Parts: sequence; structure tokens; C-alpha cells
Amino acid sequence: MGGVITRRNHFHPTFLFFTFLCFLVSGFAFSADTLLSTHSLSGDQTLLSSRQLFEFGFFTPGNSNKWYVGIWYKNIPNRTYVWVANRDKPLNNSSGIFKISNQSIALLDQANNLIWSSNQTKVSNPVVQLLDTGNLVLTEADGNDQYLWQSFDYPTDTLLPDMKLGWDLNKGLDRYISSWRSAEDPAAGDFSFKLENRGFPEFFLWGDQGKKYRSGPWNGQRFSGVPEMNPTNSMSFDFVINKDEVYYTFHISTKSLYSRLTVTSSGQLQRYTWIPDSQVWNSFWYAPKDQCDNFMQCGPYGICDSNVSPVCKCMSGFQPKNPQAWNLRDGSGGCFRKTNLQCTNDKFLHLRNMKLPESSTSFVDNNMNLKDCELLCLRNCSCTAYANSNISSGGTGCVIWVDGLLDMRQYAEGGQDLYVRLAASEIGNGRSVGALIIGIAVGIAVLLLGIVGCFVWKRKRLLSECKEENAIHERSQNFLLNEVVISSKKDFSGEKDKDELELPLFDFATITTATHNFSSENMLGQGGFGCVYKGRLVEGQEVAVKRLSKTSGQGIEEFKNEVRLIARLQHRNLVRLLGCCIEMDEKMLIYEYMEHRSLDSVLFNKAKSSLLSWPRRFNIVCGIARGLLYLHQDSRFRIIHRDLKASNILLDGEWNPKISDFGMARIFGGDQTEASTRRVVGTYGYMSPEYAMDGLFSMKSDVFSLGVLVLEIVSGNKNRGFYHSNGELNLLGHAWRLWKEGKGLDLLDTSVGNSFSSSEVLRCIQVGLLCVQEQAEDRPTMSSVVLMLSSETATMPQPKTPGYCLGRNPFETDSSSGKQDESFTVNQVTVTILDAR
Ligand SMILES: *[C@@H]1O[C@H](CO)[C@@H](O)[C@H](O)[C@H]1NC(C)=O
Ligand SMILES: *[C@@H]1O[C@H](CO)[C@@H](O)[C@H](O)[C@H]1NC(C)=O
Ligand SMILES: *[C@@H]1O[C@H](CO)[C@@H](O)[C@H](O)[C@H]1NC(C)=O
Ligand SMILES: *[C@@H]1O[C@H](CO)[C@@H](O)[C@H](O)[C@H]1NC(C)=O
Ligand SMILES: *[C@@H]1O[C@H](CO)[C@@H](O)[C@H](O)[C@H]1NC(C)=O
Ligand SMILES: *[C@@H]1O[C@H](CO)[C@@H](O)[C@H](O)[C@H]1NC(C)=O
Ligand SMILES: *[C@@H]1O[C@H](CO)[C@@H](O)[C@H](O)[C@H]1NC(C)=O
Repeated sequence: MGGVITRRNHFHPTFLFFTFLCFLVSGFAFSADTLLSTHSLSGDQTLLSSRQLFEFGFFTPGNSNKWYVGIWYKNIPNRTYVWVANRDKPLNNSSGIFKISNQSIALLDQANNLIWSSNQTKVSNPVVQLLDTGNLVLTEADGNDQYLWQSFDYPTDTLLPDMKLGWDLNKGLDRYISSWRSAEDPAAGDFSFKLENRGFPEFFLWGDQGKKYRSGPWNGQRFSGVPEMNPTNSMSFDFVINKDEVYYTFHISTKSLYSRLTVTSSGQLQRYTWIPDSQVWNSFWYAPKDQCDNFMQCGPYGICDSNVSPVCKCMSGFQPKNPQAWNLRDGSGGCFRKTNLQCTNDKFLHLRNMKLPESSTSFVDNNMNLKDCELLCLRNCSCTAYANSNISSGGTGCVIWVDGLLDMRQYAEGGQDLYVRLAASEIGNGRSVGALIIGIAVGIAVLLLGIVGCFVWKRKRLLSECKEENAIHERSQNFLLNEVVISSKKDFSGEKDKDELELPLFDFATITTATHNFSSENMLGQGGFGCVYKGRLVEGQEVAVKRLSKTSGQGIEEFKNEVRLIARLQHRNLVRLLGCCIEMDEKMLIYEYMEHRSLDSVLFNKAKSSLLSWPRRFNIVCGIARGLLYLHQDSRFRIIHRDLKASNILLDGEWNPKISDFGMARIFGGDQTEASTRRVVGTYGYMSPEYAMDGLFSMKSDVFSLGVLVLEIVSGNKNRGFYHSNGELNLLGHAWRLWKEGKGLDLLDTSVGNSFSSSEVLRCIQVGLLCVQEQAEDRPTMSSVVLMLSSETATMPQPKTPGYCLGRNPFETDSSSGKQDESFTVNQVTVTILDAR
């Protein structure tokens, strides 16, 4: 067995002699992984688990001058600590002593003050052993395998394989992980991940301001809020509930694979796996992952769906509690019932692909079937919803919720069925939300909110109201361009020829006819903004009609001003507004109809993605870039889109891309280039680091989103939730690695087939990577993006590391050799030297 107390450098004979002497004096004849009650550890001495996987000893993290005792991976150069004993009470220097004392394990400082100790046990001949699992245990020396105390029961910030996260009900032990305060301070920080053992047990990530994220309850296969959680060959998950224990754990079958679940000091839950080839920890999974993972993003009864914009919606039978805020895409007020429950005579709305609501007050019966579950719910007037408690074998068990339904979200796939109680009168004319979202990204820019339908229209051109010249006045908010900031007064009357300003005003009857009286067959989608219908004008032209909410609280004048502004944005790569319809308190927008709907419905759909040949993809990339260039530079206003993503790109019959949804756009004054916002809106996965973290947005944050979009178009994969088959990197990191390895073409979606131009593909990837660079100032402007895409000869810089690349860059060689590196590099020496202190 290799020596434990090691030191590099010189082995002067006197040192060796000293060592020998000390051995004799202290009787320090240890076995590497075990500490006997007669011995102690201090200074550089460590325990090493029998297969040399973990090491235990004194350490000082980073540049701090505080000392701790803890456990780290033996074979990982950049030390990764998995457990710290005295996290809240450091030693001021390394002259502490770790030993067995008074039937417990104790850490004493030089003056023999107790710094930390395990709880006392009833042990006669105690030994401490470091196991290959990373568990430090106190046992009887005589081989009884019972652990009288174990570090696994007192986790720090890391959950290792086979460790239990949750409750030991007999001992009243709540095992949870909590973050380090910072990379140099292991003291308990603001964030913790903890099992709530009430109702239907689930985990919460807590932050300094309360609950941040919820895993959802265990549904027999996975956590309801983690649809991507699937056992692999090497990793499996377990959730155990019985009268003694409630806990989550995971197992690794390949012992050489290192995997850990950690709460980071920035408040994220990260599952890392170690990549030996590149010597980095790769983020395999993390949470919260998008807006909808934020606890209560859409308030009580609200449903969050990150694939639509805005993300919050009310299910059928409900309406927004605070329409004004809802307009501004703040859904946190939630929804309320349009019709109160009758109790005796209610029905249930069937929702699919759901994350189950917050369930600490729910009631579970694993032996009930779904039919009995419905009856149970109906019998109890405060029951608001029910579902299967276990989705295995087609669904078994019953869970019911009483009172409010909180923190629900809906997935494109995964999730499970949920039945929500509604007054009987609300059922029948409503549709399930699941059916509704499909059409949502359809042909139209998402501008507003609303719930009901709109009516008929007859075409009546150039009505005086729509022609009226009018200046836009400074406003802090408005409803078409939410959060619009116009920093200098704009006067439209001076611009361009008059024809462009003439927006047709359609009348009600025309619209009713065109949409077959707003029939449900014509409905393309519904969301917080209102309903969208497909329509055909008498002349044969197909249009999309969006009926806006009556509750938007905007005046007619403001509405018309905004419509005029959007109508003014004319470019063939922006979706075209054809007209508006104003009648009483009804407001409608009429857009061109987009035959192929949204890019994401084709690109990420395995059955359809082969429709996107390379020439079509390249055309789409160039078109989006030109549209964005127009917004940024060529239109008279400087417009930041702020929500560029695949579902906001619409495709016409010829597969030309058109940018839609200006609901979050901001207008900048001529010389303004950057602004910030308190409430970060947008879609994770497309947000630049400076926007996501600091709320700073600029044209360069749009450029970042464009880069993500370009890489998605080339690869056919979503950035958000991207899983490489070996659990490797996110899409940006993956593209970056392939690029650095000179294997850029491997990124190309296989459904493109064999006919593509390699130089175009590589150019797109390079442009994509340039756009997603970490530093905003490194990213190109839209005019150079358009130039680089269109010219074979344009010179392009080499991209730097992408921003928001959660796996660290495997290619940066680590030339620094800090103190921590030293301690591991030379360890094959068997003879050891004690500090001559
Ligand atoms: C080592 O790990 C720390 C924290 O995990 C990280 O901040 C640091 O950048 C890493 N250093 C290297 C050279 O990888
Ligand atoms: C470390 O030093 C600080 C201040 O110098 C003192 O308050 C603290 O008690 C010391 N801790 C130990 C464990 O000696
Ligand atoms: C370590 O700190 C203790 C008090 O905290 C002090 O008495 C002792 O001298 C220090 N030892 C060294 C080597 O600095
Ligand atoms: C041993 O622990 C017990 C209980 O914690 C305590 O009362 C006692 O004083 C300790 N004895 C010594 C010698 O530290
Ligand atoms: C000792 O036991 C108490 C209560 O039983 C518990 O709160 C504490 O965390 C335990 N400490 C250690 C280090 O085991
Ligand atoms: C869920 O159902 C499956 C199959 O019926 C069963 O094996 C499993 O133990 C159940 N899980 C829980 C947590 O009840
Ligand atoms: C309804 O169910 C809840 C949760 O099980 C329970 O606390 C409550 O007493 C029930 N109410 C009635 C009237 O049965």
C-alpha cells in the first residue's frame, strides 16, 4: 500500500531518519485507510481509501488561509472536495489534530480546543475508516460492519453515488446538501437542496429568498419535474419511501465513472461527470434550466410552457388575475376561475405532459386506481385536481390536491396526465391545453394577451384612423411592444412615402367570414396574448388573425400608434402585418399566413427535419441574419428583438424565414447601444451571459441568440436540454469541441443528407461560434455577420470560448500549478516524511 503522508522534493537522509524515529515514537503504524483510536492525523497526513479513490485530510481551499478537514477525489488534479467536517468552524492554521476521542471523532486545534466532533457513539474499540465510496465511517474494530457514525449522514454540498438524500425517520435525520459560500469558503451558503417530506414528497432548491426550484414528486420512474431523467447503462436512480426512510439516491455501475450532484455557490443544482480524457468536470444536467423552472413563475393555477412566448398561460376555465402585469409578461399573479366550483356537479379538465403541482398538502394512496381517485376527489369539495401517483405500468395509485395548484408547467414531451376540477359549465367548450399549444408558434408574432376570440372582418382600405399621422410619445410601457423604451421622440410624419404608412383597416364582418365565425377548426393557437385563427379572404388570400385581449387596458390611440410602428418595419425577413381591426373594445391584428409555420416545428421534428435540405437551411440562416440586420441598423429605429429563437422564426411556402414576435422588443434611440432591465425576460438557452446574469441587453445579445440559432439549424439539435449520447457537453460546448478538433462537419444534422457545401457549413459554424463568444465585444455586428455569410472570401477571426458553456473548456491547458496541484502530483513515494514542525 502506498504511503500516505507524502511530500515531494528532497529526501535527505536525516529526514528519513526523523520519519523512522517518529514512527517509533508515536507508534504510528497505520493502514492507509484506517485510523485507530491510538493514532491521530495532523499536518500533511491523510487517509487514503483502499482503491485510492478518495483521500481524507487537512486542506485549505483556494487562496484562503483557513484550514479544514475533508474528503476529496484522490485522482483529480484540481481538487474537488466532496465533504468538509468543520465547514462552519475553520482552523486558523494547519496545526490541528484529528483523532478518535471520547467515543467520537474529534478535531482539535493546537491548544486542544474542540473544533468539531461527530456525535458520541457507544463504541468499545473504535476505528475510523475511509471507504472507496467516499464515506468516512466510525466502526467497531472487530469487523462488525455497522457504521456507528458516517459522513454520508452529514453531507456538505455534494451527493455521491449510493449516498442517501432525505430522511431517516427513526433517527430524525434530515440529510440535505447545501452550497459552499464561495469557492474558497465551505461554510454553508445560501442555497440548499432538501426533501420536503409532507404530502407527496419532493425536493426543493432553497435560496436566500425562499424556494427557487422544485423537483416535483417521484412518479415511480423519475421526478415529475425532470422529464429528461432516464437511467442509462451506467447510472440509475432510486427513490425509497417506507416507514423508516424517505430518500433519493443514485448508483453508478461503472466504478471508474465519477459522478456527483452538487449545489453550487451560485445556486444551481449541477450533476457533473468527470471526463478523464480532457480532465474536466462536465455538466451533465442542471437545474433550474429555464424560466419555467423558477418556482411559481406563473403563480397559482398558471401553467408555464417554455416553448411558447409568453411562457405563462391560464388553462381553460381560468383567466389572468392581473392582466396588466400579464401583458408585461409577468405571470406571477397567476390565474383565477371564471366560474366557481359547484362541488357536487363538477367535471375535470384533462391536461397532458404536465409537471405535477406543488404537493406538500396533497394526499396519496398508492392502492387506488384512477377511477376511484376521481371519485375521491369529487367527494371532497376542497379537492382541485387528481392524478396517478405512479406512472409505471400504465399508471397506478392516486394523488389528490386540495386548494391552490402551484408551480405547474407543461412539457412538449414527458410529464404526465393531470385532471383539474372545473365547474361543469366550463367543460365542453374548452379544449385541453395540450392540444392548444401545438398551434401556438404558428404564423404570427406574439404581441399581446387575451383570451377570447375575435370576429369578422370586411376589408376596408385606408380608413382615416389608420392613416392619421401621429407621433409616438415617450411612454414607459405599452402593449404591443411591451416594455418599449423610446428614448428620443420619434416623429413618423417625416419618413418615407405615405403609402407605407397606410395600414388597411378591416371590418368585423370580413373577419368573421374569413375565419368561419372563429370556428375551432380555424384556430391555430392560443396563449396569454389571445387566440390566433387562420382565415381566407374573399379574394383568396390566406391570413392569420390574432384577436387581442379586451383587458389589455390600452387606448385605441396607443394601439394604433404601435400598429403603425410595426407596420413600418417592412422587410422580407420580418413577418408582415397586413392590417388591423378595431371595433368597440375589440382589437385584432391581421398578418400574412405562413404555410410552414415555425422553424422549431420542422427543425426539431425528426419526421420533418429532412424537409430542410442544406440549401434551405443556409437560406434560412442568411434570411434571419438579414432580418436582424434590418432591425439593428437599417430601419430608422434601432430595435433589439430580445427573444430570437426557433419558435419565433416562421417559414413561408418557399421556406423563407421571417422573424416574428416583437412582444419583447425594445427600441433604442439613435445613439443608445445598451440598456438593462430588472426583470429578465426571454428564453434560456438563447440568452447571452450578460443578459441572463446582469439583465444587460444590447444588439450583441441578439447576436448571441442568433449564434445559438445558427448552430441549432446546422445541427438540428436544441441548445437547451441538449444531451450528447455520452452525456458530454451542451450544444455550444459540443460545437466548440468539434470545431477545435477540426471536425466541424460532424456537427451537421444527418437528416440533411449528402448534398451540402462543406465550405458553407463550416462558414455557418464559424459564424455561429463567433456570435456566441463569451465577451459581448468579441461578437461581430450584424453587418459583418451578413458579410461573412454571403462572401466566400471574407476573412473571419477564429472564435473564442463560447459563453454559457457549462462544461468547461477542455482545451485550455492548465499551466498554473498551485499548491493544490503539488500535493497530488508526486505520490508514488512509499516512504513518508513528517513535517519537522
Ligand atoms: C479548479 O476548480 C475551481 C472550482 O471548482 C475552479 O474555479 C477553477 O477554475 C479550476 N481550475 C482549473 C485550472 O481548472
Ligand atoms: C482564528 O482566529 C480568529 C481571529 O484571529 C479567532 O476569532 C478564532 O477563534 C480563531 N479560530 C480558532 C479555531 O482558533
Ligand atoms: C496556529 O494557531 C494557533 C492559534 O490559533 C497558534 O497558537 C499557533 O501558534 C499557530 N501555529 C502556527 C504554526 O502558526
Ligand atoms: C465526552 O462526551 C460527553 C458527552 O458529550 C461529555 O459529557 C464528556 O465531558 C466528554 N468527555 C471528555 C473527556 O471530553
Ligand atoms: C449530532 O447530533 C445532533 C442531534 O442528534 C445533530 O443535530 C448533529 O448534526 C449531529 N452532529 C454530528 C456532527 O454528527
Ligand atoms: C410504481 O409502480 C411500479 C410497477 O407497478 C412498481 O414496481 C414501483 O415500485 C412503483 N413505485 C413506487 C414509488 O411506488
Ligand atoms: C379533503 O381532503 C383533505 C386532504 O386529504 C382533507 O384534509 C380534508 O379533511 C378533506 N375534506 C373533506 C370534507 O373530506
